[in-house]
Amino acid sequence: MRTMQDLTNYNTFGVHATANSIRAFHNLEELKHLIKISKNQNFMVLGGGSNVLFTQNYSGVILKNAMKGIMVIGQTEEHVFVKVEAGENWHEFVLYAIQQGWCGIENLSLIPGTVGAAPMQNIGAYGVELEQVFEHLHALHIETGEMRRFSHAECNFAYRNSFFKQGGKGKYIITSVVFRLDLTPNFNTSYGAIESTLETWGVKELSLKIISDAVIYIRKSKLPDPAKLGNAGSFFKNPSIPQIKYQDLKERFPEMPAYELPNDEVKVPAAWLIEQAGWKGHRRGPIGVHAKQPLVLVNYGGGDGRKIKKLAEDIRLDILFKYDIDLEPEVNMI
Ligand code: EPU
Repeated sequence: MRTMQDLTNYNTFGVHATANSIRAFHNLEELKHLIKISKNQNFMVLGGGSNVLFTQNYSGVILKNAMKGIMVIGQTEEHVFVKVEAGENWHEFVLYAIQQGWCGIENLSLIPGTVGAAPMQNIGAYGVELEQVFEHLHALHIETGEMRRFSHAECNFAYRNSFFKQGGKGKYIITSVVFRLDLTPNFNTSYGAIESTLETWGVKELSLKIISDAVIYIRKSKLPDPAKLGNAGSFFKNPSIPQIKYQDLKERFPEMPAYELPNDEVKVPAAWLIEQAGWKGHRRGPIGVHAKQPLVLVNYGGGDGRKIKKLAEDIRLDILFKYDIDLEPEVNMI
């Protein structure tokens, strides 16, 4: 009988599931070899496992990206171009960039996951999205085994979305990402929570380090540490709705916040909807809705992926019923 591999430590939700096997690759040759020998079964690449929910066992091979390396490949007076291998830990890369004095990703401190997974969902936080510092990436086309370079435009970035979650889903494996970082600081402290934290700290002079520290402080105060409490960050995306629909809702719910978008739409914070609907801190045995940030579903220990999915579905239906807004999951469910 074949021994199954336990995936509990391979997903930040910490849910139990199994796969046929887990194989790490450290370079392109190893990756190509693994794909070749896995051809007759399913396989999926896992980065940090921080945006995935296993709702069942995976009948296939998990390929774990362990490609490492950070290299400067170009420089102008204003910018440095840095090529980062996909298996690098995102936050460690952010800290490295800060140390080097490279600007642009300090607001994205402490986001769990790997560099290779970052463009897939165009990670974003505190007023900055990955696409703002993205130059191009390299990916392996699974079917042909050929490498392809993707420009910014070809990645088709949108809010928590890219070509790799759409038409390119399951077809490519991102192997490295090139970033264009600023050599002269261009701090972005517009996000309310950053501004107020810096004010409370009495910060007089901005630096990359102090902004990163503020972001880390804010994240730690709101978002559960996956090492201590299983979660995959925001479970849902913040929904966009037409202005006209928002005006109607605003009459019924005068407190409903919204952020204007350029296209006659507004973005409503899903956390507000979920909190108002009474789900904040809701608990169902070993799983629940985080008490400090209701957009985050949590596994207190021993939680089942299917039950987390069911909880998410119940929340989605409740929000649809109460506000006629359909929440879309951000987390990739397997
Ligand atoms: N809010 C509530 N109750 C709460 C928390 C928030 O009503 O308990 C409302 C408030 O109106 C608040 C608004 O939600 O102003 C926004 O809250 P917050 O600043 O915490 O951000 P978010 O929209 O809930 C998004 C990202 C996070 C990212 C933060 C900071 C998505 C799906 N999530 O959350 O990203 O860290 O902004 O920029 O866009 C992730 O993707 O996994 C993630 C954690």
